[in-house]
Parts: sequence; structure tokens; C-alpha cells
Amino acid sequence: MNKKIVLSVNDIQKSFPGTKALKDVSIELFSGEAHAVVGENGAGKSTLMNIISGVYQADSGSILLNDQEIMLKNPSDAQKAGIGIVHQELALCPHLTVAENVFIGRLPKKNGVIDKKKLQNKTQEILAPFGASIHPGDAVAELSVAKQQIVEIAKVLALECKVIIFDEPTSSLNESEAQRLMQLISTIKKQGIGIFYISHKLSEIFHMCDRITVMRNGNVIETRNVDEINADYIVTKMVGKELDNLYPQKGEHIEKEREIFEARNYTCLPKFKNVSFSVKKGEIVGLCGLVGAGRTEVTRAICGLDKKVSGEVFLEGKAVHIKNHKNSLDHGICYLSEDRKLDGLFVEMNLEENMIAPELERVSKRGLVNHKIARMQLQEYKEKLGIKYSFPEQKMSSLSGGNQQKIMIAKLLVLNPKLIIMDEPTRGIDVGAKSEIHGMLRRLCDAGIGIVVISSEMPEIVGICDRVVIMHEGEVVGELEGENVTQENIIARLTESGKLREAKNG
Ligand SMILES: Nc1ncnc2c1ncn2[C@@H]1O[C@H](COP(=O)(O)OP(=O)(O)OP(=O)(O)O)[C@@H](O)[C@H]1O
Ligand SMILES: [Mg+2]
Repeated sequence: MNKKIVLSVNDIQKSFPGTKALKDVSIELFSGEAHAVVGENGAGKSTLMNIISGVYQADSGSILLNDQEIMLKNPSDAQKAGIGIVHQELALCPHLTVAENVFIGRLPKKNGVIDKKKLQNKTQEILAPFGASIHPGDAVAELSVAKQQIVEIAKVLALECKVIIFDEPTSSLNESEAQRLMQLISTIKKQGIGIFYISHKLSEIFHMCDRITVMRNGNVIETRNVDEINADYIVTKMVGKELDNLYPQKGEHIEKEREIFEARNYTCLPKFKNVSFSVKKGEIVGLCGLVGAGRTEVTRAICGLDKKVSGEVFLEGKAVHIKNHKNSLDHGICYLSEDRKLDGLFVEMNLEENMIAPELERVSKRGLVNHKIARMQLQEYKEKLGIKYSFPEQKMSSLSGGNQQKIMIAKLLVLNPKLIIMDEPTRGIDVGAKSEIHGMLRRLCDAGIGIVVISSEMPEIVGICDRVVIMHEGEVVGELEGENVTQENIIARLTESGKLREAKNG
């Protein structure tokens, strides 16, 4: 590998009110390398990258690009210098088209007017390697989160940078999209671009990064070549101690005879058909399948978030009618969305306000909101879930990504649910906190609720679920329980149903 240092960051310090986010950070990036940066939620990864890309200014320290010190007052200074970032949270203009977003501020012009043809072609060229069906003329607001993420990446690729930072770029991509991104990163590496890659998915890092830097508590702990170390080593460095037993014990208090919840024959063609499954008291049930299997759609319909065409819900044996999301909450069925920004969190509001938001939905009739209680609840869950924040009036957007996810979970627990449906509950959460959350889910079940989990991470499903319901192209194709819940069995079931379908169609 060419070991020319393209970027060198020296002795950077950065404080926010109440937190010293970066204590004294130095890091070097070679041109043509993919350099992973890992660490627990709140370790300072995004803050460091925001400084390198001009979003924040450091309190002290220096940044050298190709041996020249650079001063970045804003993101556009960084872009001009050749440093681009794909942010952890999406930040597109929803009302503009894909192409307008990709070339925002730099739209190609001809005789003073926008050259639409060129805009279209250039965008198409950048999007092509992703193989996703995104058209330059699509309105961004109409795209799925995954596709928006791809547009966000395209925007940075269009800048022709020397340094590109990816801050958890795959957290909303499916497996094949993530793989395409990995391939793309290998290609841009070969062009001599230096890449910082932040992710909580160690498998991705070992797959395609050259070096890895571990951060903890605002400090750089160590930088190593990826081929010298393994995942256990990294986890130990990240957490500062050894972690055994990543997953909690499976359920010991499942009341086999007591079904808390049952969904019967949920149908909304062409998305899903005759989907039925149940959850017992004390049980964690996983819904698994490939992306596009219809898991999110079914669960959203159950919770009254999307329309269903037909289907029934029974709670503790009694039929209940869920017309909208409020009905669902009133019955004690809560839903944790996979897209925290769209329908979960209010990023511009403070933590306390976010905590009472679901409660508000319920108590709005009486018009009373008790701030004192909200504050106590926030404090309670800060301790229970280990949420890192400085004060309750802090804006949601100033929390690290993983800590925002923890607030989402806390918001649901306040409602004392009977059944929680969680779509990708540990997205963006570090390994240590993940295992805390898994432990917490198990304790909630032991205390008598039921949980449904959707996760694209197979080890997570296998690690925590007592039973899994397997879906394929909108239908339930199998169920596994207890010791039979293994990765091999799930994959076998999915492959079988894929083949059956091919045979039917073929
Ligand atoms: N704008 C801000 N105002 C106040 N505090 C902030 C702000 N941005 C970050 N912080 C704090 O700085 C610390 C580091 O946060 P940062 O976002 O860098 O963590 P991270 O390593 O990226 O975590 P994650 O894995 O959860 O994304 C956290 O304690 C966070 O709450
Ligand atoms: Mg972050």
C-alpha cells in the first residue's frame, strides 16, 4: 500500500457544554487506505469527523492536508479542500430531486441556465454502481431510507474528494446494498482517496478496512493494522474490559399456555398475505426473512401505522380493533420504528420533551403534562439503559446516534406496554450497549410482556429469540423454536421457500 499521509489530525480538543467530547486526539490517514474508527456510543467518533469536515471547529489542535495546515470554518471550506462526509443522519432536501440533491450548490449550467441533460447524465453515472432503481428525476421525499442513504453517498462521490468520511453509512442499507458500497469503497481506494469508515459492524470493517483506530471516552486508544488483530481484541479495547456472554439467557419464564398476542391473516396485497403469528407471555419472537419479506409492512399495519386490508388482532384472547396508532398504544401495543428520524424522535426538541411525546399522544385529551414526572423518567432510564447526556434540556440532535436510539426505547417503556414490536432495535448501537439492551429486553419479558423483534442481523435474532417466524415475499413460510433457532436452520428454510417459489413460477 502507498503510505503517503494525506491527512493528519494533531492534538484536537473539543468541548460542548457539559461534555469534553474530544480530549486530545491525533490520527493519520494514508491516501488509498480505508481506515476504520470504532468506539462505544458517545466515544467522540462523529465529533472528530465533524471537525475534519468543517461542521464543528476544534477548541485547539491542527489539521494538515497533504502537509499543509488547513483552517475549516464551515463544511464548504472542507469541500473546497477536498474533504467530503456522508453523515450518520440523513440531511437531504426532501422536496428536490435526486439529481438536484447530488449537485446541490454546484448545478451544471449552460448559457446561464441549468443544464438538465448534463445533470441527469452525471447523476446517473454516479448512481450506476449501486444498481438500485433510483432515477435522477425522483423526488427524494418519495424514496425509502435506504435509497436516500445512497443519494447521500452519491452526493459526496460527486465532489471528487481526496478524503471521504463515511459515518455509519450502512445502518439503513440492506445486505446487497451494503455489499455494493463495500465494492465501491474498494474502487475509490484504488484511486488514492483516503477513507475514514465509522461503523459498529465489525464484520464490515474486517472485510474491507486496512487499519482500525479505537476511540474511548474522547481519546484515541490505539491504531492497528486490521490483519494483526481480531474482533474480540477490538471489543475489549472499545469497552475497556472483556465482555463474555454477549447475549442473555433465553426465556425461562415463558407461559406456554398464555398467548398475549395473536395476529391472524393479515393481508395487504401485494405486500403481504395471510400472515399469522402469536406471542406468549414472556417470549421474544423474531420475525426474520430477507429485506423485502414484508416484516416491517405487516408490523406497521398491526400497529395502525399503515392501512391493512384485512386481518384480526387478539390480545390475551380477546379480539381488539386497531384503527389507528393511538388505538394500538391504548391497548398496550407499542412500536419502535426502524427510522428514528422519520417517525420516532423529534430531533429539534429536547430530551424531556421527547420523553413525554408518546405520553402526550395519550393524555392530550386531558391536556395535562407533568414535566416533573418526565424528568424523573428520563433520569430513571438514563441509569437503566446507560444513556449518555449532560442535561435534560439538551437538544435531541446533540446526542450521539446510539444514545438517540436508547431514548427511543426509553420512550416506549414509559408506556408500560403489553407487547413491544421493535424494528431494528439496536441499529447504530455499540456492542456493549447492545448487550445491555438485549439484557433489558429479556428482563422486560421475564416481568410479563411479549416482544417481537425484526432485525437484519441474524446473530442478534438467533442470540435473543425464543422463537422465530420466517417470512418470505410477504408470507409466513416457517417457524422454529428453542434449540432449533439457529442461523443454519433459518437459512435452510429461506432457501427452500425461494426454490419452491421458483419452481412454481418456472
Ligand atoms: N452539538 C452537541 N452539543 C452537545 N453535546 C454534543 C454535541 N455533539 C456531540 N455531543 C456530545 O459529545 C459526545 C461524543 O458524541 P459523538 O456523537 O461524537 O459520539 P459517537 O462516537 O459518534 O457515538 P455513536 O456511536 O453513538 O454515533 C457525546 O457525549 C455527545 O452527547
Ligand atoms: Mg456517531
